Amino acid sequence: MSSEAPRKRIAVCPGSFDPITKGHIDIIERAAKIFDKVIVLVSFNPNKSGSESFTIEERMMLILKVTKHLENVLVDCHHGLLAEYLERTHACAIVKGLRAVSDFEYEFQMALANKQLYPGAETVFLTTSTENMYLSSSVVKQIAGLGGDISSFVPQEILSDINSRLFRKI
Ligand code: PNS
Repeated sequence: MSSEAPRKRIAVCPGSFDPITKGHIDIIERAAKIFDKVIVLVSFNPNKSGSESFTIEERMMLILKVTKHLENVLVDCHHGLLAEYLERTHACAIVKGLRAVSDFEYEFQMALANKQLYPGAETVFLTTSTENMYLSSSVVKQIAGLGGDISSFVPQEILSDINSRLFRKI
């Protein structure tokens, strides 16, 4: 039998988080129950580059505010390939939320590519809770930008941070 302590099971939740929503938090909380450590990783999405509403630092600050109750969750950012980050941190899993069938094709493609680039990590999909099925950062941005009420989509403690940036900006 090995005398080495078992390695902690680290999962990475990557995303743009521009901004974080209750849908993301639901996935992070559930991942935190499964893994020893969960890293919420503000990542670079080339498809969204230049159209972000919040800087990387602002997005990290918002995530920190709403995950401070989760002891095994930490927040980081990375500009390069997710596979590089997984290898460097010895993560064993990428955790993603799946909302609908429409998410699946894109997520499936990314899961296969990441597995090819770094076979040491599995992509784990958690199904979104039904109340968050339709929720996304872009929906939040659009509603807030047009002066709508986003209080059921983002936690109270970051509501004013988000509103002050987005309110009537469309
Ligand atoms: O919240 P998003 O924008 O849907 O998240 C997509 C994200 C950031 C997870 C994805 O674009 C990503 O993994 N970016 C890191 C760069 C990378 O590794 N690209 C290849 C993935 S196959």
